[in-house]
Amino acid sequence: MNQAPEAILLVGGKGTRLRPLTVRTPKPMVPAAGVPFLTHQLARARSAGVEHIVLATSYLAEVFEPYFGDGSALGLHLEYVTEEEPLGTGGAIRNVASRLRSGPDDPVLVFNGDILTGLDIGALVDTHRATGADVSLHLTRVDDPRAYGLVPTDVTGRVTAFLEKPQTPQEIVTDQINAGAYVFRRSVIDTIPDGRSVSVERETFPKLLRSGAHLQGMVDSTYWLDLGTPHAFVRGSADLVLGRAPSPAVPGRRGDRLVLPSARVAADAKLTGGTVVGEGAVVGEGARIDGSTVLAGAVVGAGAVISGSLVGEGARIGARTVLSGVVVGDGAVVGEDNELRDGARVWCDAVLPAGAVRFSSDQ
Ligand code: GTP
Repeated sequence: MNQAPEAILLVGGKGTRLRPLTVRTPKPMVPAAGVPFLTHQLARARSAGVEHIVLATSYLAEVFEPYFGDGSALGLHLEYVTEEEPLGTGGAIRNVASRLRSGPDDPVLVFNGDILTGLDIGALVDTHRATGADVSLHLTRVDDPRAYGLVPTDVTGRVTAFLEKPQTPQEIVTDQINAGAYVFRRSVIDTIPDGRSVSVERETFPKLLRSGAHLQGMVDSTYWLDLGTPHAFVRGSADLVLGRAPSPAVPGRRGDRLVLPSARVAADAKLTGGTVVGEGAVVGEGARIDGSTVLAGAVVGAGAVISGSLVGEGARIGARTVLSGVVVGDGAVVGEDNELRDGARVWCDAVLPAGAVRFSSDQ
């Protein structure tokens, strides 16, 4: 059997600290199904046989390293490389080349750090080996490709182009998009320019295609979610709890809810749809929470009704308050008898008095 490749996990760039106004924890460390999101990716790579992972960060090693250490708790050997300035996806990959141990023709896995997926990692590596490609990409199909760069392939799965976001219906030539997991032939990584910002999608891949390199696409229409927004994050966390998104790192059994050990949930509170209640959080009598994440130390008052929402660390939601599709920042207070809906964001530590906001029509 072939040895499993080593891997690079990209967890830097501008998106990493995206939402300090609502959640202070850097995104890869926000708990999804009870553990920092990154744990799921690391654990999935480990179960595919990967042992050595280099975390390419642009300024967050001080956050990751104290938590994950050398990776041995996950059965991994983890290394951290921090860029002085964000180098983009390609630049970040090139920047960790000296840490790789593979030979020039060996495969190296690369994962975007903000994707939750059930990708069969072994199948991607097998495809790469079987086709002799220079780079192999996981492609996924989306219903509405307008928000993504498109990756058409020929009948053999070979990539024929990298197209920018389509502007007109005619430009939608495929529903296949780059799903953020790759296998590089090791020697290809060395051809990426060193010491400057490089985008794999906009520079490295198109350049490789023009030079006649073999880029292979593998369409795997398994679970796939880009955790780019807090709403997607809540969805991903719920899907992990429900078992729709596979991860060996979910603590406890799959089911309708995940209540971490030190949380206190009233006996008649109803938790459904993959709701997570974090350490030390409290849920009051008669509260109903569906498909939501309640982070550590938050308090949900009696009779509150919450769906598809993120309640930040230490936030307090008053009795009978209704939240639907809302992000409540760390430490924020939403007083009782409020109603917030559809994308509302409450900044960290903000205080909304009782009965301050409602969305229903006046009747
Ligand atoms: P470029 O291809 O560089 O333009 O980035 P992008 O905007 O297309 O990538 P995106 O923001 O979708 O990020 C993809 C993954 O790469 C995410 O997990 C990011 O955390 C990571 N990433 C993006 N830019 C950087 C970077 O400058 N350094 C590192 N280490 N990771 C990055």
